Amino acid sequence: MAAKWSPSSWRAKPGLHMPEYEDKKKLADVEERLAGFPPLVFAGEARALKKRLAEVSKGHGFLLQGGDCAESFAEHNADNIRDFFRVFLQMAVVLTYAGGSPVVKVGRIAGQFAKPRSATTENQDGIELPSYLGDIINHIDFAEQGRQPDPERQIMAYRQSAATLNLLRAFAGGGYANLEHVHQWNRAYLKNSPAGDRYEDLADRISESLQFMRACGLTPENVPQLRSTSFYVSHEALLLRYEQALTRIDSTSGEYYATSGHMLWIGDRTRQPGNAHVEFAKGVKNPIGVKCGPTIKPDELIQLLDILNPENEAGRMTLICRFGAGKGAEHQVKLIKAIENEGRSVVWSCDPMHGNTIKASSGYKTRPFNDIMQEVGEFFDIHRAEGTHPGGIHIEMTGQQVTECTGGAHGIKETDLSDRYHTHCDPRLNANQSLELAFLIAERMKKDRHGEQALDIPASLMGF
Ligand code: PEP
Ligand code: CO
Repeated sequence: MAAKWSPSSWRAKPGLHMPEYEDKKKLADVEERLAGFPPLVFAGEARALKKRLAEVSKGHGFLLQGGDCAESFAEHNADNIRDFFRVFLQMAVVLTYAGGSPVVKVGRIAGQFAKPRSATTENQDGIELPSYLGDIINHIDFAEQGRQPDPERQIMAYRQSAATLNLLRAFAGGGYANLEHVHQWNRAYLKNSPAGDRYEDLADRISESLQFMRACGLTPENVPQLRSTSFYVSHEALLLRYEQALTRIDSTSGEYYATSGHMLWIGDRTRQPGNAHVEFAKGVKNPIGVKCGPTIKPDELIQLLDILNPENEAGRMTLICRFGAGKGAEHQVKLIKAIENEGRSVVWSCDPMHGNTIKASSGYKTRPFNDIMQEVGEFFDIHRAEGTHPGGIHIEMTGQQVTECTGGAHGIKETDLSDRYHTHCDPRLNANQSLELAFLIAERMKKDRHGEQALDIPASLMGF
């Protein structure tokens, strides 16, 4: 008989990629304080998101999930949040209008702080220190003191998440996301790029449609969908102490919800069926994502779904595939067939970032935009061939003009990476590249909807 689930039952299982804290008293104190803080999200919102994802799992709509690889304490300010949100809105508008699909908007934000790392220590000039594990755990600077895990950072992450979420809620509901502002979301520097130009055209068409609707009596004042949008937040549920402290019983349903974010996902390195991260996710009712990398086997995936979604509830599971350009087909087809044979309900999403990380000759970690596009193109090809729904993308992006991924319309080269390489962890798409990607996906959606055959040439040459 399996042991009963509780928010703390993960503690009895092996847990990878979590820090050991030296000061146990301080740790216990932090966990107790966190457990007394207000929830960041309301269970009803997580249920609403699950409903939207259930629609996506049935082929209606597209999940746009994106944000920083790792949020940082130092860069927490209104401009960064606003710039992220407006590029995200631009992408959503492109996918909705040009792609003709409702878009479920989920940020990788307001809680995306903890990172799994491939090495536990980092070596610089012969000095070895613990690796940086995200701002919720330790300091990015390479210094003895800051690299020790500090429990107090969980409180700081909670407070930052609350402030970020507060601003995002204000933007989403308070007028910023009003479709009549569709032109204002475009930044000056974007306007001078091919994607920004295309966006201006699209914004013109939306404005015309809005004028027409206004003439018919449908205005943002009387149609809430025109003046506001639903925006949800998500992060990797990696630091389970933090997640446990924010897990609460929802008074409406009597069920447990993680209230640190609307949607949580389990990373590719912590998705072992018998381990702590799966144990934790099993008992909370939020929508759950699972990252699927090249090592996942079809029967292991089914086993995970048996644990995480025994009732096969639609909208509960999102499978976020991250195989790398040119490597998706063999893995993905097997997984899709297993899911189809077993009649499991899932949202298929594509993370074209984590399988395409390379080291530039200058030493910077980067991701070529062409590889990212190629993986997304292949994702669409495979689902089209299998008759399943390519339901979403999961990307690392920022609203800033960083130079972290090579390529895109501005042709960022490896030698440009040092110009504005600001990420705290993995390289992100900048605003231009993000918008460009949205246009490419929208075109592909439109083409697939019109029933054209996918051409048998590399996606990177097809403009997708
Ligand atoms: C991430 O999303 O930042 C990440 C670490 O991904 P993965 O678990 O797929 O490696
Ligand atoms: Co990452």
